[in-house]
Amino acid sequence: MCGIVGYIGDQQAQAILFDCLGRLEYRGYDSCGIATDNHKIKTLKDVIRVSDLRRKAGGITGHVGIGHTRWATHGVPSKLNAHPHGDCQGNISVVHNGIINNYQELRRQLVEDGHNLTSDTDTEVIPHLIEKHCHGDLAQAVEAAMADIDGSYALVVLCHGEDRLIAVRQDSPLVIGLGDHENYIASDVPALIDHTSRVLYPEDGDICSVTRDGVTVSRHGKAVKLEEVTIPWSIEDARKGGYEHFMLKEIHEQPKVIRDIVGLGMAEDETWTDLGLPDGAKLESLLILACGTSYHAGLVGKYFIEETLGIPVRVEIASEFNYYANAIAGSLAVTISQSGETADVLRAMKKLKEVGYPVLTITNVLGASATRIADRTIYTHAGPEISVAASKSFLAQLMVLYLALLPHTDYDDRARADLRFELRHMAAKVQQVLDSESHVIEVARELARYDSVFYAGRGVNFPVALEGALKLKEISYIHAEGYAAGELKHGPFSLLGADSPVVVLLSPGQTYRPMLTNIKEIKSRQSPIIAVAEEGDENVASLADWVISVPSVSSLFTPIVNTVVLQLLAYHVARVRGRPIDFPRNLAKSVTVE
Ligand code: G6P
Repeated sequence: MCGIVGYIGDQQAQAILFDCLGRLEYRGYDSCGIATDNHKIKTLKDVIRVSDLRRKAGGITGHVGIGHTRWATHGVPSKLNAHPHGDCQGNISVVHNGIINNYQELRRQLVEDGHNLTSDTDTEVIPHLIEKHCHGDLAQAVEAAMADIDGSYALVVLCHGEDRLIAVRQDSPLVIGLGDHENYIASDVPALIDHTSRVLYPEDGDICSVTRDGVTVSRHGKAVKLEEVTIPWSIEDARKGGYEHFMLKEIHEQPKVIRDIVGLGMAEDETWTDLGLPDGAKLESLLILACGTSYHAGLVGKYFIEETLGIPVRVEIASEFNYYANAIAGSLAVTISQSGETADVLRAMKKLKEVGYPVLTITNVLGASATRIADRTIYTHAGPEISVAASKSFLAQLMVLYLALLPHTDYDDRARADLRFELRHMAAKVQQVLDSESHVIEVARELARYDSVFYAGRGVNFPVALEGALKLKEISYIHAEGYAAGELKHGPFSLLGADSPVVVLLSPGQTYRPMLTNIKEIKSRQSPIIAVAEEGDENVASLADWVISVPSVSSLFTPIVNTVVLQLLAYHVARVRGRPIDFPRNLAKSVTVE
């Protein structure tokens, strides 16, 4: 999704804008641009990487400026459509993230009024609207323009001669970073991590006027003070730390993430077990809403909760739920979102809140929009995840679900204590999987030769199959599908053969025998088989072409170790194929449009 940045202060804006934009590359983009103000507004933009634009920039001077990485929604990726966009006189420049729903109407009106709009974007109407409303005070003009606009947006406005930036948001993320005689604006905290850890989170509709010495905020015409928040992420967190890609670094960070979560989850047991239910209400059913990888975490949660709490759990893709949000029943909704900014999730949350439904959100980003809608938030404490494809955030979501729900299970104290003990030692099990990476690399070299791969699992490993397939397609561009193993014979069997490998996931317990039967069926169709199975599993060794062993854990926790294998497998296949692993084509880290 688009990334926006702004800077005002004693330093040259250009270098800082490029630094911050570089940190937003992970969100995915097709073009980029900056504008700074000195004697006039100078704009530079193109369909190139941030580093290439930086090389082209030369010494554009000015102590105030804005920058943008664009992920095309209205109009193809082109120099003309890239941001920043300006008004007729070249006095106003705007960067925008989001969508203006009524832009065609606004555009028609502006053209009738004599404005000259040249791009295909919805964004371009904004500087022209501000120009139209500007009769002296810039902040008032921005507010008037916002009143004309229907849509979701975060934007920063630069106006020639004004020693300030105006930032506003509506249903789109925006953060203001505080420095010493300098201030920053960005769509995402990682953009600012090199410069400051002190931030402010504006609310929807706030008009923020940012100068080098301060930030003033107007809400419905009244001045308000935003609470300063300190971000616990370090600069090192946002660097590759010697790994070739962020994704590999993030996969390898997982033992630490698990240790951190276990420490917090168990130490703060009281707060984690509070799910945010109204006083006296009993947890009778659960609705889980999420998108992408987080949706798969929700599905794992469903198996865990139904098995251990015996209550019904409904898991919905947030974008689908939004069409029939009236058909809800039950005691609690849980939304899962790494970013806490996914537009479909936020929309679902708002609908639930409108009908008085209690909402708990599980997210990784301090102060994210989801936390401001939810009744209660549990953070996943995974640190910044830069790679577009989620890895450590998924494992963190699973750990949080396990730890937060364990105290609510029907199990007796002894059984609960056993599961807690196992979770406490899960980091070592994950480390064991990471230590077998060289074997996974060998298997990945084989798998990289194929153009279509199936993943199959049963029970709690069905969502793991979905997640494994998603990881492979996201970063290697190989067609991959995840299946409930019992469903293979209802369609995919017609595609099986020597060219279609199947990755099968085994786990001890009731699904083990039927999985062996499935493996035999797959084998008789000549499909190469890659099995992920518990160490020492002789049955599988005699059936599969390649076996990747995982340490023994309770079947309910096998998603943790099995997922790590599938992350490594996808990563190394993508590496063999030479893909841009951290920034896969057409994908974005944070999907802030519906
Ligand atoms: C994008 C990302 C995925 C992520 C999904 C949901 O598609 O590329 O990695 O799983 O959004 O994001 P969320 O932040 O809500 O978990």
